[in-house]
Amino acid sequence: MIHVRACTANDAADFRRLALAPQVTARIGVGAPWSRATADARFRRGMAACGRGEGMWWLAHEPQDADPLVGLVVAEVDHLAEIEIGIWLAPGRWGRGHGRELLAVVLPVVRTRFPGVTPTAYANVDHPASARMLTASGFHPDGTLIGRYGTEVTRFVAGDPTPT
Ligand SMILES: CC(C)(COP(=O)(O)OP(=O)(O)OC[C@H]1O[C@@H](n2cnc3c(N)ncnc32)[C@H](O)[C@@H]1OP(=O)(O)O)[C@@H](O)C(=O)NCCC(=O)NCCS
Repeated sequence: MIHVRACTANDAADFRRLALAPQVTARIGVGAPWSRATADARFRRGMAACGRGEGMWWLAHEPQDADPLVGLVVAEVDHLAEIEIGIWLAPGRWGRGHGRELLAVVLPVVRTRFPGVTPTAYANVDHPASARMLTASGFHPDGTLIGRYGTEVTRFVAGDPTPT
């Protein structure tokens, strides 16, 4: 069973493992491998955003596994005052639907923590797995743009929450 919990400043090693995996960062930012300094700086910025109340980061683990790290979910206020969500799964965890499982857990928390703020996600146009995960989780494509890293991305906007 997957456990999801808030990421803290003590979790730098788990973040570094994901950020230093070239398969993961191939679809993040410019797509180039990250250095340890880049990874550590991104982690510091993320934890600072969480500390200011402008973000929420979660780590997912499967504690009974020999290698328990499943991945990371990031939700941060962006320059449009929207909440941008990103999911980074450990490479060995892809293809099992974990991405949408994690979205199902965190989206209601994001909506509660940031009421009225639009949850968004951006996926490189040549990243069908991300697009599939997002649409299966109720996000709608909202056109393409050149993102802040210079790649063409599709903007996805979360649909209305499913009534409970
Ligand atoms: C993107 C990511 C979060 C997807 O999560 P996941 O749980 O592995 O998603 P899945 O493997 O279940 O794939 C989702 C869907 O994409 C499909 N898919 C996977 N690879 C595909 C490919 N190369 N082409 C087309 N469809 C693909 C799957 O079949 C599945 O569709 P289905 O539900 O209709 O069968 C995960 O691959 C990841 O963390 N990648 C590295 C970091 C990253 O790219 N993050 C997203 C940045 S926007």
